[in-house]
Amino acid sequence: TTPLRLGIAGLGTVGVGVVKILQQHGDLLRARTGRDITLSAVSARSQKKDRGVDLSGYAWEDDPVALAARDDVDVLVELMGGTDGPAKAATRAALARGKHVVTANKAMMAVHGQMLAEQAEAKGVALRFEAAVAGGIPVVKALTEGLAGNRVTRIMGVMNGTCNYILTRMESAGLSYAKVFKEAADLGYLEADPQLDVGGIDAGHKLALLASIAFGTQVDFDSVQLEGIDRITIEDITRAGDMGYRIKLLGVAQMSSGRGLEQRMTPCLVPRKSPLGQLRNATNMVVIDGDSSGQIVLRGAGAGEGPTASAVMSDVIDIARGLILPVFGQPATTLVGSTPAVASAP
Ligand code: NAP
Ligand code: HSE
Repeated sequence: TTPLRLGIAGLGTVGVGVVKILQQHGDLLRARTGRDITLSAVSARSQKKDRGVDLSGYAWEDDPVALAARDDVDVLVELMGGTDGPAKAATRAALARGKHVVTANKAMMAVHGQMLAEQAEAKGVALRFEAAVAGGIPVVKALTEGLAGNRVTRIMGVMNGTCNYILTRMESAGLSYAKVFKEAADLGYLEADPQLDVGGIDAGHKLALLASIAFGTQVDFDSVQLEGIDRITIEDITRAGDMGYRIKLLGVAQMSSGRGLEQRMTPCLVPRKSPLGQLRNATNMVVIDGDSSGQIVLRGAGAGEGPTASAVMSDVIDIARGLILPVFGQPATTLVGSTPAVASAP
């Protein structure tokens, strides 16, 4: 059998994690897919940076679009980030040439997912994004495969580890938002633009992606009702605690008759003793209600080198096994709009 040849664009936290898995688990990957998964070429901004892994065996490309176009790359692994720019350009270039794409980029998928999915499906190639939602938790796979026989009635969850960390520390250490925000920054938790985290935008991107799969609607990030955690005070947290609640940045997506798809990512009170109330630090949790399955609760690391690289590799492995599924669980051209005029509760 022929090897599956990867090109990785982006060698930061996640990219280096993927290189490590490829270098350490070659035998395991071969046993599980029946073929070799090899790395042909890599790209990042600086070729000189020491990234703590040996990259000498791989070709280097300064330009991620050139990487995507290489003849020895079957799968572009896009790990640069950003809604537009090189991430979108390289993804489009790869799809245009009939190459598969695996990405961890929730911003790009939440804004351009419909267009990219149509492009991928027209070419008959995979576009996979397990790592984009809740890091190491296999929630995209749970929805598109494990729960595919269900009508999902609601998706709920904590999908931004940084916000959960900040809220946890404010409560446990009695520290102000400003002090814990600085702590999170010092720990390297915050995105380059912290507003993506604390403004609820990053978590809103993730919710919009899951809602599309769960409800068969086009990804509609613009309709997510967003409120961040940046105005939560220690007094709010104390008052919530006195009543037996904790404040969480909670995402909820559900279909309502008459109103269509409702998507909210806002600070909410959750009972302290509930699974969501017990969720501490940077952990994520996604709660899915299916009409046959009942409630499924998924919990785990929503970020970090290992967990996110694990999710990237699950997509690569599916491609190596020849599993080419519709990007959002059903053909992109069959996804309906999320407003009541076009889609309503069944
Ligand atoms: P990161 O550490 O900031 O790494 C980004 C990488 O992209 C760097 O290696 C950078 O090169 C490279 N890059 C940026 N612009 C480039 C360009 N124009 N051309 C070539 N390379 C370029 O980011 P990350 O944390 O690994 O995240 C990568 C993606 O995964 C993002 O979409 C992020 O949202 C997503 N994600 C991350 C996590 C996480 O835990 N970190 C979790 C889930 C999803 P240099 O190193 O040379 O600067
Ligand atoms: N900034 C994100 C978080 C990274 O804190 O959850 C993972 O998507």
